Amino acid sequence: MKTALKILRIAAAALALLIAGTVADEHARAHVPAPERQALLARGKALYAARRVACHGQAMRSVRLPDGTLSPPLDKPGFQFFFWVMPAGMERTVREKIEAGNAAMPQFSKLLSPTDIQALALLVREVNQGRTALP
Ligand code: HEM
Repeated sequence: MKTALKILRIAAAALALLIAGTVADEHARAHVPAPERQALLARGKALYAARRVACHGQAMRSVRLPDGTLSPPLDKPGFQFFFWVMPAGMERTVREKIEAGNAAMPQFSKLLSPTDIQALALLVREVNQGRTALP
């Protein structure tokens, strides 16, 4: 019984270390140098401001689209959680969603440059991490 508990404790500690290492690595990979970050954010904000009425509304909280459906909010607990634990992976996911679009959302890979899309994804990340507010 004692041995089983010992093994369980060691396994839990190993798992905690693995998670901590993965999260630290994710944060390191998501790091954008300060001057570059400011430039990208400004670009993301300008792009979002130009499209927000049709996009996901003021403060990224969703908007009713012309077909009567609601666009999803982009500032929400699900996003906040994943941007917190795996910022690099989540930013990539958001970038891919912006690139691909869907029936209601334009395929932005055909409309915007990769840097523009990266700027928008960084904006979504920063808003969800509570580091920036929308204009
Ligand atoms: C440049 C501005 C935009 C950004 C940054 C953006 C970003 C995103 C992201 C990250 C998602 C995924 C949301 C999720 O998984 O919960 C999404 C989904 C969606 N967006 Fe946008 N979007 C933009 C513009 C638009 C526009 C112009 C429209 C409509 C005309 C639109 C309509 C939608 C809809 C309907 C979805 C849900 C897609 C689905 O159910 O698969 N978006 N958008």
